[in-house]
Amino acid sequence: MSNKLEGKIAIITGGASGIGEAAAHHFAAHGAQMIVIADIQDELGQKVVESIGSHKCSFMHCDVTDEEQVKNLVQSTVQNYGRLDIMFGNAGIFSSSTQTVLELDLAQFDRLFNINVRGMAACVKHAARAMVELNVRGSIVCTASVASSTAGEMNTDYFITKHAVLGLMRSASKQLGVHGIRVNSVSPSAVGTPLLCGYFGKEVEEVEQTYEPYTRLKGVVLKMKHVADAVLFLASQDSELITGHDLVVDAGYHLVY
Ligand SMILES: NC(=O)c1ccc[n+]([C@@H]2O[C@H](COP(=O)([O-])OP(=O)(O)OC[C@H]3O[C@@H](n4cnc5c(N)ncnc54)[C@H](O)[C@@H]3O)[C@@H](O)[C@H]2O)c1
Repeated sequence: MSNKLEGKIAIITGGASGIGEAAAHHFAAHGAQMIVIADIQDELGQKVVESIGSHKCSFMHCDVTDEEQVKNLVQSTVQNYGRLDIMFGNAGIFSSSTQTVLELDLAQFDRLFNINVRGMAACVKHAARAMVELNVRGSIVCTASVASSTAGEMNTDYFITKHAVLGLMRSASKQLGVHGIRVNSVSPSAVGTPLLCGYFGKEVEEVEQTYEPYTRLKGVVLKMKHVADAVLFLASQDSELITGHDLVVDAGYHLVY
């Protein structure tokens, strides 16, 4: 493994499960000094810390919908580890039900928006403030989705929130470039994580088989590792000149639509 993240202090929101968990392992394997997992699933978060090792990873309970908790997460990280180099804003949920715009349930939409957009904005805001204050040329990566740049047949609320993540990422990258802070996003298509498996009530392989016909690139299946690879690229100096970019990781899924 490389030392692409040697000495780096990173926060991963939604790091107790799925893509965030995979990214935490990847960051550790690539030399990150400390990875702070921020999530509402305390037990799972602690398990990730145990599997990586408490010398390299810690857990903090943080509900991203509560700005005070996000502020506290960033401040504690800086207090405990001296700086913040990487914010991987990844916490997110999927629609509670399928719906076209005709059936849009605005209460459900508010909940989704609160986590996927408002929560993401709080993470970008407070990470950027800390980086500016400490004069850190940091990297902020947001988890968007192929739903950020395609039209949805269903799950209208989810598509709206993920489009908004791109607006946040692009505006923040434009505004923070003057401080040397890069802001990008990663956009996976369907990955067999607890989020998607739980929604469909399917096993990982079944989810993968469901989406396989819709990808152009054959002979590969999108796994969490592929997304973690893209996040590592955006978090590290390998992408030194890249900001305001949405890196789609989907085996050509979006080319179909
Ligand atoms: N799985 C996919 O197919 C897919 C595709 C594109 C984008 N995404 C996005 O990837 C991100 C990660 O999802 P995943 O598939 O790994 O799902 P996941 O459910 O495995 O992980 C999401 C994590 O976010 C945490 N979380 C939820 N609400 C939170 C809150 N309010 N505060 C803090 N943490 C919270 C959950 O506890 C969980 O640990 C999400 O933003 C999702 O929208 C997923």
